[in-house]
Amino acid sequence: MADKKLKSEIEKRRTFAIISHPDAGKTTLTEKFLLYGGAINLAGSVKGKATARHAVSDWMEIEKERGISVTSSVLQFNYDNFCINILDTPGHQDFSEDTYRTLMAADTAVMVIDAAKGVEPQTRKLFKVCAMRKIPIFTFMNKLDRDARDPFELLDDIENELGIPTCPMNWPIGSGKDFKGVYDRENESVVLYSDTQKGTKEGTAEIIKLEDKDTLLEKLGKDAFDKLMEDVELLDGAGSTFDRKEVDAGMLSPVFFGSALTNFGVEIFLKNFLALTLSPLPRTANTGVIDPMSDDFSAFVFKIQANMNKAHRDRIAFMRICSGKFDAGMEVLHVQGGKVMRLSQPQQMMASERHIVDEAYAGDIIGVFDPGIFSIGDTVCAPNVKFEYEGIPTFAPEHFARVRQVDTMKRKQFVKGITQIAQEGAIQIFHELGTGLEEIIVGVVGVLQFEVLKYRLENEYNVEIRMDTLPYEHIRWIAGDNVDVEKITGTSDMKKVTDLKDRPLLLFVNSWSIGMTLERNEGLELEEFSRN
Ligand code: G4P
Repeated sequence: MADKKLKSEIEKRRTFAIISHPDAGKTTLTEKFLLYGGAINLAGSVKGKATARHAVSDWMEIEKERGISVTSSVLQFNYDNFCINILDTPGHQDFSEDTYRTLMAADTAVMVIDAAKGVEPQTRKLFKVCAMRKIPIFTFMNKLDRDARDPFELLDDIENELGIPTCPMNWPIGSGKDFKGVYDRENESVVLYSDTQKGTKEGTAEIIKLEDKDTLLEKLGKDAFDKLMEDVELLDGAGSTFDRKEVDAGMLSPVFFGSALTNFGVEIFLKNFLALTLSPLPRTANTGVIDPMSDDFSAFVFKIQANMNKAHRDRIAFMRICSGKFDAGMEVLHVQGGKVMRLSQPQQMMASERHIVDEAYAGDIIGVFDPGIFSIGDTVCAPNVKFEYEGIPTFAPEHFARVRQVDTMKRKQFVKGITQIAQEGAIQIFHELGTGLEEIIVGVVGVLQFEVLKYRLENEYNVEIRMDTLPYEHIRWIAGDNVDVEKITGTSDMKKVTDLKDRPLLLFVNSWSIGMTLERNEGLELEEFSRN
């Protein structure tokens, strides 16, 4: 049985990832969360905002300067008796398989959508991974202070594009220069818009009950008032009501409207989100489901960050603690390596700083020094228990290139280097069916990883390479063990390859070819993720 302190520490933890398309406002929203948590002080000036932004992203900047290995960071802060871990999912050029893997460490996702744009490609990709895990997904519809699309249309967009029903928790009244505030459905009241971007935490939001029609009419004006009454009626008739079970199962996304930049609707969102989400969820291992409140420490590695220094073996393994408590200096069993060891230099990010941790609990993420022994998906646990958490899937790369070493004499180093880098999980390598490693095809989720590969091969293995980009954009694993790959008839541009584990896969130039191939081969099932 867990002692009281352990239980209360774990219960107050909330570990979530923010998913969005670049520019939807993820960074701005995160900053506002940190502001409420008191982790950064934005008070008083817009300059404060710039400084804070700088501070939060510092770590990544340093890594960028070192040339490679842009990372997803984890921020921890306290708010209202909760201990919050936010996992950042980098976008733009830094989008990589790590971005997907980070989602494996989260218990919940916050999806930030630009209300002028609706669902965008990167949100769609990240959403798929969350949906696969069936984790709760909360939506923050952002930028209402700018002209936005019709809110009903935005909800339809989520339902049609992502296939998840939504339930609006509040409702915008106008947008852009006509933005008047939001209607809080549960409390049946209107929260008038106030721009608190200059940094006050509380804002001066004025709240008016829906039944107080005269005041509302006066504050909103006739057009906005009439529209609101109409919308409220439509919403109540639409039937999308909040259902806790559906939300927990990732089958219904509660939606909040607001504006991160002007700090409107952010705290309401945060409060509701924290109240409606769960403390760290149980995870499945090969011995069954592991209770997070268990006294025995356990964690799994979801990300390995190589080459923080030039020395190849200097890496950091990021682990998500799944049960119990971690104490610095405690002995743990690295299950896959079969070794009892101490995790050295355990560290955490607190707001903008990395620091050494003395203790951490289920729900927390720690980074530990990795002398080159950990692999993605590995389990570490108290030595008296021994189990393995379910592995982390391999996600479909979207960019492919044929890679060769320039100097043929360096063949051995080339194969060794590229294989090691692939084993670390930075890239995936494939070869054409039946050809062995003579012809190596590299697949990556984000194109920056091509540069990472080139840089690392040159710097760590002293091998110069040539890369020829290939036109493929999709890769699919073949479901089932008894499929005769030779017999699959695809489109002329399809390529059959195998991965490091000798599993057969199919490469396609476009999604049309995938459809054709499925049509031509009855019973064939193709998968976008590979369960390891
Ligand atoms: P990201 O992390 O999702 O990529 O987005 P980020 O927060 O960096 O926001 C992208 C841009 O959108 C920023 O403007 C930011 O100020 C703006 N933004 C975020 N939330 C809101 C909002 O609620 N309303 C409005 N009007 N704008 C918002 P930028 O000009 O690119 O950057 P900056 O110079 O302001 O830092």
